[in-house]
Amino acid sequence: MTDRSDTAAINAHSGAPLWLLAELTYRCPLQCAYCSNPLDFAGVREELSTEEWLDLLAQAREMGAVQLGFSGGEPLVRQDLEQLVAEARRLGFYTNLITSAQGLDEARIAALRDAGLDHIQISLQASDPDVAAAVAGSPKAHARKLAMARAVKAAGYPMVLNVVLHRHNIDQLDAIIALCDELGADAVELANCQLYGWAHLNRAGLLPSREQLEAAEATTVRWRERLAEKGRAMDLLFVVPDYYNDRPKACMGGWGSIFMTVAPDGAVLPCHSARLLPMTFPSVRDRPLREIWYDSEAFNRYRGDAWMQEPCRSCDERHRDVGGCRCQAYLLTGDPAATDPVCSLSPDHHLIEAARREAEGGVGTVGELIPRNVHESRVFCRS
Ligand code: SF4
Ligand code: FES
Repeated sequence: MTDRSDTAAINAHSGAPLWLLAELTYRCPLQCAYCSNPLDFAGVREELSTEEWLDLLAQAREMGAVQLGFSGGEPLVRQDLEQLVAEARRLGFYTNLITSAQGLDEARIAALRDAGLDHIQISLQASDPDVAAAVAGSPKAHARKLAMARAVKAAGYPMVLNVVLHRHNIDQLDAIIALCDELGADAVELANCQLYGWAHLNRAGLLPSREQLEAAEATTVRWRERLAEKGRAMDLLFVVPDYYNDRPKACMGGWGSIFMTVAPDGAVLPCHSARLLPMTFPSVRDRPLREIWYDSEAFNRYRGDAWMQEPCRSCDERHRDVGGCRCQAYLLTGDPAATDPVCSLSPDHHLIEAARREAEGGVGTVGELIPRNVHESRVFCRS
């Protein structure tokens, strides 16, 4: 808990939020078992209106935010997306659409381009249509993703693809990269699934083994060499899952440091997963964004290092990684102020080692993953 004098000291050192993630909706036609949305998303009903989003964008820009991501759920579900993009452009944001491409077509790409959208990132589930269909819960989604990736590029955008890797598709990485190459991608993020939300629920069925991970890294290196040899510019970014690191990431650059998420109902969060924490987050429906960022208890609770426990409190590395991820610490230990168990210095690191051992055993099939959908979500709703 941060007392008033601590809060004043922290506020004096808090910069502006640079990056705003606007989660426009939790609605989505797909059912990815690794979705980072909260398990009880079905309990979030009243989305911010167009006017509320427009007002919020103005507040964030006035505070100094420069980068704006539109995500969800599937942000294309919102029919006012083009209007929000246009206003964001007018305000001077750099805008990025993070989408599954469901609901996208050539006309909508043109409308988004006219509105001033800077960047589009499309997610792929796999190269194999059957695996993609099983993970997304839709037999048609894969073909639309491929068609829209091509359409985005034809409209003059760089083709930026994101592939979430897990134990059921990581062994097909060679074919996945080949598909991205054939599509003409400019950049591909090969992001091993991070284990929050639905992905944490499905952790045993998603976490790859170390052997799988090492083979995938080697495949990525081989592809980088092959692409360089043929003079093909396609950036490959390989993101290792936290569970195979010995030090945690400085999650979000530090709690309440540069990043904020606004959830569909207006809750303001220091990260996209924070809703799972046992704390209450303020809403833009009740307080101005500036007040929430600088003065709310929620945004100040894990700023700086006064909240840290040992071993972080006396660790020389605490300013580099800020003790890791609060959501991961809570999911694994039940204490959001604990050292992230990813750290090998954490007394809870054995939890990570146990998960790695479990992954060596090979757990389940893709069909056994729990899909993210409204019906399943209701099980987790508190009201
Ligand atoms: Fe980072 Fe804490 Fe581990 Fe030190 S003990 S490296 S501060 S997580
Ligand atoms: Fe919430 Fe890391 S994802 S603090």
